[in-house]
Amino acid sequence: MRRPSLTLRLTLLFGTASTAVLVVLGYLVGMSVQAHFVEMDREELLGKVQLVRHTLAKVRTGAEFAAMPGRMDDALIGHPHLGVRLSAPDGDLLYASADASFPAEDFPMRLAEGMQRSPDITTWRHGSHAFRGTMTTVPTGYPGMPLVNVAVAVSIDHHVAFLDAFIRSLWISIAAGALLTAALGWIAARRGLSPVREMTAVASSISASRLHDRLRVESLPPELSPLAAAFNDMLARLEDSFRRLSDFSSDLAHEFKTPLSNVMTQTEVALSRSRSPEEYREVLYSSLEECERLARTVSDMLFLAKADHGQVIPSVERIDLAREVRELFEFYDAFVEERGVSLASRGEGSVDGDRLMLRRAIGNLLSNAIAHTPPGGRVSVSIAQAPGGVRLVVENPGETIPPQHLPRLFDRFYRVDPARQRSSGGAGLGLAITRSIVVAHGGTISVASADGSTAFEIVLPAAREGISGM
Ligand SMILES: Nc1ncnc2c1ncn2[C@@H]1O[C@H](COP(=O)(O)OP(=O)(O)OP(=O)(O)O)[C@@H](O)[C@H]1O
Ligand SMILES: [Mg+2]
Repeated sequence: MRRPSLTLRLTLLFGTASTAVLVVLGYLVGMSVQAHFVEMDREELLGKVQLVRHTLAKVRTGAEFAAMPGRMDDALIGHPHLGVRLSAPDGDLLYASADASFPAEDFPMRLAEGMQRSPDITTWRHGSHAFRGTMTTVPTGYPGMPLVNVAVAVSIDHHVAFLDAFIRSLWISIAAGALLTAALGWIAARRGLSPVREMTAVASSISASRLHDRLRVESLPPELSPLAAAFNDMLARLEDSFRRLSDFSSDLAHEFKTPLSNVMTQTEVALSRSRSPEEYREVLYSSLEECERLARTVSDMLFLAKADHGQVIPSVERIDLAREVRELFEFYDAFVEERGVSLASRGEGSVDGDRLMLRRAIGNLLSNAIAHTPPGGRVSVSIAQAPGGVRLVVENPGETIPPQHLPRLFDRFYRVDPARQRSSGGAGLGLAITRSIVVAHGGTISVASADGSTAFEIVLPAAREGISGM
């Protein structure tokens, strides 16, 4: 089933909430208007009872009693919708107002089946007409005469008609109000959600070739801007990954192209005419060298691909770093001599890890340092205990690496000066491999370069107790 849209949900919410509020409001208004009418009628009825009381108080003699109906008629002139009925305790009718437009004879028996009863007021219906009345007993001024039953009633047809019309228009207004708020809610929801539609449009227009598009965070409402900012960050990361991937492919192609074209050119030149066996041997040696370089790059890349997938699992043995550094110094002896630089190491420390891998990692740093030290300079390696484990720093004098290159130094194929480096043989994978090895050992690597000195720092977790060295 399709889930309801946010606009529909908000519209329903607005509609339901406003209907509920309007219905309660309408009910309260209807009730108070009705109560107001009851109060008005009550005042009138009690006023007439007071009038009857006043008239009967003046009846002190038989003659006055006989004149009472006439007096009552006089007092009630001008109140055609009002009826008064006086009766003796035994039920004998003493007086009934003449021009009353309501059936006085019904009253007061009908009072008993009243539709509504406020403390002293009763409302009832007779046929299609509605009445409101009250009943009480009133003394006369005639000594010894029993109390007279007084019943007063008014026709409330005009009130009922007004109330009916009022309530009808009230409910119509409520229904119209509810519909209007729902419609306004729909418009508000659609307008409010328009930034979401814009975001969707931008998001759906983004493809690999348009990864530079961004959502305009500043034009969005505060509820949506964190989402848009997160989306933009994601795009930036994707764009960066895409750029690196495409750089990587072009670097890779370039890396393979040079040795391959070298081999092809040499072979073509060699084949252009017949050569002596020595000349052929020389060409073959040269080709072998290029092939070795290619094979090295391929195996480095395989290593990095494995590291990417967490498949580089170091074997664990106790390694004395100072000893490894000494052995590496011996290994690079010829290179050091050729470059006219010197090596120095101090401090010591042990870690648990893979001997061959760590040797490769430190060796890459050393070979870089030796290659970048000017003749007469000294490459120094220091090993010390650090808060996070054991720290090994390879430092060399030489040209400072501009700061903008530092964050990318550990990227594959990244070289500060590609033209110069390519000719000197490095593929630009050394530091990437070093970092993968250090990370696989749970360590960190960083670089700092300033004032003609460059230092690579590796921190590896210190050797744990209980694992014996070899
Ligand atoms: N000690 C250093 N001093 C100055 N620049 C350095 C130093 N070490 C590395 N670099 C710079 O960092 C780049 C990357 O080094 P990396 O070891 O990854 O590649 P490479 O030495 O060029 O090639 P490879 O190590 O694959 O043979 C180098 O090309 C160089 O520009
Ligand atoms: Mg290197």
